[in-house]
Amino acid sequence: MCGIVGYLGPRVATDVVVGGLQRLEYRGYDSAGIAIYDPKEGLQLRRSVGKLIGLIARLHLEPARGHLGIGHTRWATHGGVTEINAHPHRDASGQVVVIQNGIVENYLELKARLVEQGITFVSQTDTEVIAHLVGLYYAESGSLATAMRQTLGELRGGNAVVAICVNEPDQIVAARLGNAGGVVLGLGEGEYFVASDVPAILDYTRDLIFLEDRELAVITSAGIRITTLAGDAVERRPISIPWDPVAAARGDYKHFMEKEIHEQPRALMDALRGRVDQEAGMVHFEDMRLDDAALRQVDRIYATACGTAWHAALVAKFMIERLARVRVEVDYASEFRYREPVLGGDALLLAFTQSGETVDTLAAMEEARDQKVFSLAIVNAIGSQAARVADGGPLYLHAGPEIGVASTKAFTSMLVVAYLFALRLAQARGTLNAAQMQPHLQALIELPGKAASVIEASMPICAELAEHYHRVENALYLGRQANYPIALEGALKLKEISYIHAEGYPAGEMKHGPIALIDETMPVICIAPQDEIYPKMISNIEQVRARHGQVIAIGTSGDQLLASKADHVISIPATLPLLQPILTVIPLQLFAYYVALRRGCDVDQPRNLAKSVTVE
Ligand code: AGP
Repeated sequence: MCGIVGYLGPRVATDVVVGGLQRLEYRGYDSAGIAIYDPKEGLQLRRSVGKLIGLIARLHLEPARGHLGIGHTRWATHGGVTEINAHPHRDASGQVVVIQNGIVENYLELKARLVEQGITFVSQTDTEVIAHLVGLYYAESGSLATAMRQTLGELRGGNAVVAICVNEPDQIVAARLGNAGGVVLGLGEGEYFVASDVPAILDYTRDLIFLEDRELAVITSAGIRITTLAGDAVERRPISIPWDPVAAARGDYKHFMEKEIHEQPRALMDALRGRVDQEAGMVHFEDMRLDDAALRQVDRIYATACGTAWHAALVAKFMIERLARVRVEVDYASEFRYREPVLGGDALLLAFTQSGETVDTLAAMEEARDQKVFSLAIVNAIGSQAARVADGGPLYLHAGPEIGVASTKAFTSMLVVAYLFALRLAQARGTLNAAQMQPHLQALIELPGKAASVIEASMPICAELAEHYHRVENALYLGRQANYPIALEGALKLKEISYIHAEGYPAGEMKHGPIALIDETMPVICIAPQDEIYPKMISNIEQVRARHGQVIAIGTSGDQLLASKADHVISIPATLPLLQPILTVIPLQLFAYYVALRRGCDVDQPRNLAKSVTVE
């Protein structure tokens, strides 16, 4: 969740940019930097590691004057936390500076090409690749906007990029690719702002323009011009955002749950940030206090949680056992705390909790501590009880606040963190070497973009299915292997926000009872991506259809056989089998959301439910 701020106008640019970055401090970061242009001083770069106060101290010692500037707070994705890796980054000529939020999925190949062309890199960041590309294209075209268009045309992955150039001192160019997080433009009286988030510029204006995917803005003292990356003009009227902080926090979404479903691509990116080293083929957890030796010591893991988090623990079992070859037992925390478990010396407790305050989960962690067993918490709320109690350390989701009672982005972020932990365990135990890690890391890096495409593609289909099925009284969700917990999660989503009775079942169990429920009034949601168990799911679907059940299938894009068997199909892009649950759950979240909406239910605060169950 990096912070981006840019300014062009009569004020002292340094004050506006640093002030804006301070408003974004909640986003977390490990270094900061600013680039200010002044006709006499030229381009002044100031960067520092650590909190923003370090940059402010630096600026007191070495002021940067000017009315054009950009600034950035970095949360390391590629490369360590050093001043040389802090943004802004310059191109080889030193004329162009760039700041970025996101992940360049193909930076390794772009970097290799630039090195081939004789470019010398000074940092370990993917951002520097962007700076050099913009610089090279600028040298050819003499236009910063053209250079940015050409550069973004070569990038893969969600990115927000902002650049200024010495030779175009009355200009900021900003562009957005995918869902790396926003690019918001602020229009003042003869002054203009750009930021990654609204709070950075609210002190100066409420007239905002939000860049959409694959759009580019050229900001000059004459105004803002928006085009697509292809160069076609875009007419976009500014919107004036409400003063009400809750409405402002909800943005232009009707519900927090809707917003949080849409935030998942960025949340997944933030769960990966700083933890994936593609070049070394390694995974790092900044807050984990268990070293390789301690991880090698672990001979079994107890995964425990409640509700949706328990579903994440069930998926984590598949990930850890298959990737790290360590035995995992999964318990409801409310059961674990009373069953007097015999944990054994070389056990590890892995607690999953969004709030970090769930009383049963905390009690399970206490049970582990009483038996002198280390615990880790896969947790979202920074500084929460679980984060503090976990003696092995918190593995934070970095998903940002989750307001909707029905958990969505925290769930998919838990799955990414669990996958990273499984890889970290495999790395420590030598179960996977650096080369074997590579395909997993690449698949993780590509996941946010795939999640974004699932959201876009599923919305209209799920809305239509909700129109069709919102009056049913029961629903059955079926899945196998790592998609069986997704069947449970899909059923939970539907029942907790639309109050329709829904059950999740392992598809192989259908014939052992639930098949008696199936008739023409029963929608059966079948999770059937093309994986090694796919043929079994196809025969389950045939059994449902033979009893006139209506099948809604979640399948892999292009699967004609599935389309011929199911009444409705929602497609997801292919990915590694154990990452599929992160994509297959998204249509189920959207389906539940639209059904609840259609039934007039209170989506964000469903009856009888609380966001965090802090009492038994
Ligand atoms: C999720 O949709 C539910 N609201 C609920 O099951 C939740 O997952 C459970 O209460 C656990 O909460 P936690 O992740 O904060 O511990």
